[in-house]
Amino acid sequence: MNWTRAQIPDQSGRLAIVTGANSGIGFVTAEILASKGARVILACRNQARAEAAQSRILQNIPSAEIEIGILDLSSLASIEAFAKRTLDTESQVDLLINNAGIMMPPVRTETADGFEMQVGVNHLGHFSLTLQLLPLLNNAPAARVVTVSSLAHYKGRVNLGDLNYKHRRYWRIASYGQSKRANLLFSFELNRRLRAAGARTIATAAHPGWTSTGLQRHIPGARLFNALVAMQPAQGALPTLRAATDLAARGADYFGPKGLTGTRGYPVIVGCASAAKDPASAAKLWLLSEDLTGQRMTAIES
Ligand SMILES: NC(=O)c1ccc[n+]([C@@H]2O[C@H](COP(=O)([O-])OP(=O)(O)OC[C@H]3O[C@@H](n4cnc5c(N)ncnc54)[C@H](OP(=O)(O)O)[C@@H]3O)[C@@H](O)[C@H]2O)c1
Repeated sequence: MNWTRAQIPDQSGRLAIVTGANSGIGFVTAEILASKGARVILACRNQARAEAAQSRILQNIPSAEIEIGILDLSSLASIEAFAKRTLDTESQVDLLINNAGIMMPPVRTETADGFEMQVGVNHLGHFSLTLQLLPLLNNAPAARVVTVSSLAHYKGRVNLGDLNYKHRRYWRIASYGQSKRANLLFSFELNRRLRAAGARTIATAAHPGWTSTGLQRHIPGARLFNALVAMQPAQGALPTLRAATDLAARGADYFGPKGLTGTRGYPVIVGCASAAKDPASAAKLWLLSEDLTGQRMTAIES
């Protein structure tokens, strides 16, 4: 049987934070979680776009509990401010969906802290956010951190000596692949560390195959391919939703579309590049990410 939104259990009483929730896969993820009763924080960088998303959800689901939290993943200060507000106002977080992302901007740009933009937003921003929210996640009875990767991780070698393309020529395709490989290394390492610490929280991962969104705006011809072959966001969000809510899912499960070389279909557990599962590389990336972001995993109270 295909896994669809109909299989999502009731989410009443749960709090979900979805990064990049104002468009594409993040928007649908937030809307469906809200339709199942979760209270959802749209963690977005732009107030107007976040409010537009909130209004659209409320139009469709008038009873939805939808809030906005301003979060710019290209700024460690913004991430800290978001995390502090959340720590000050919430007692627990049940779902953290690390969804926001950018793909292949043509020229190398930097985050406020000097990280190359793709690895800075897609990986380091989410690394910093997750570590700061872990105390709230660990307060929940069965929290999950879902990190959204991509088929592009197969081509993404992580260069620990020059993660930020400071000393090598910027290649936007390789840089995107690196950030998406880093997403998986991070997710699996997070799960290992949570398990070792005896935490109830688990980390899972997902990828949406090929889904028609604004993500591919820097790729020539993408609009045509999107119109011809891509899935719509309502289906592209299903791997994320399954990773977040399937009661049978376990830590380190990675969900993606079943069909057509993983580009489309209903969500199932999928494999990944063996290098993305390498614990030694993951541990090195973790240490580097700690150094770059200044965040450490806090001790877990049971
Ligand atoms: N679509 C696909 O086929 C595909 C395939 C593989 C993986 N993915 C992954 O799926 C995830 C969602 O992408 P999508 O396809 O839904 O694309 P999208 O519609 O472009 O959504 C990306 C979201 O990320 C947000 N974002 C970008 N930079 C940010 C920042 N600095 N701080 C906070 N939020 C930021 C965007 O906000 P703004 O609107 O303000 O820019 C937007 O809400 C990404 O991680 C992407 O890598 C997508």
